[in-house]
Amino acid sequence: MTKIIGISGSLRRQSFNASLLAAAVELAPSGATVEIGSIQDIPLYNFDVEHEQGIPPSVARLKEQIIAADALLLVTPEYNNSIPGVFKNVIDWLSRPPADAPRVFSQRPVGLIGASPGNFGTILSQNAWLPVLRTLGTRPWFSSPLYVSSAAKVFDAEGRLIDEAVREKLRKYLQGFARFIG
Ligand code: FNR
Repeated sequence: MTKIIGISGSLRRQSFNASLLAAAVELAPSGATVEIGSIQDIPLYNFDVEHEQGIPPSVARLKEQIIAADALLLVTPEYNNSIPGVFKNVIDWLSRPPADAPRVFSQRPVGLIGASPGNFGTILSQNAWLPVLRTLGTRPWFSSPLYVSSAAKVFDAEGRLIDEAVREKLRKYLQGFARFIG
């Protein structure tokens, strides 16, 4: 069984990206599962905290969840045409201490998808992730990008992915990603 851990980079209760991740859990192909990793309790990165107290338990937990999985799926919002600080902060914590970062990221298959109420479906945010994924030595999968635009129409009030065409795209994305993970 291929295990994918998905992280939504939004803290918002009605987050479109959390809803997209929930749909990925539902639409995972046979032979693969998508689990959800939580970022709710992750503090802002502070070197002094790391130095004096070590890695916070919420970060350590997420790290071990990623290590136990075969692949990582980042579900990213877009803020000001780039990565939201909340999400970048999570990845920054996960990359600490540097000697431990390869365990989490090196050669790890990474998928990147995202949802936005606008017309461009997080394309600029996904582009902004590229140098981060390269720096961390991941093995990103780019063959079939997924940009979910007009999110307010694609999800219903309960956060269910109700647009059939987008459901199909997500299903295909996950099939391709699972094949890539091997
Ligand atoms: C946004 N939003 C946004 N959307 C977009 O497509 N491109 C952008 O550059 C921005 N910029 C931006 C900046 C800031 C500070 C906020 C708060 C929002 C809108 C954003 O896509 C929208 O709030 C989504 O709902 C965020 O994702 P979640 O929380 O629904 O997952």
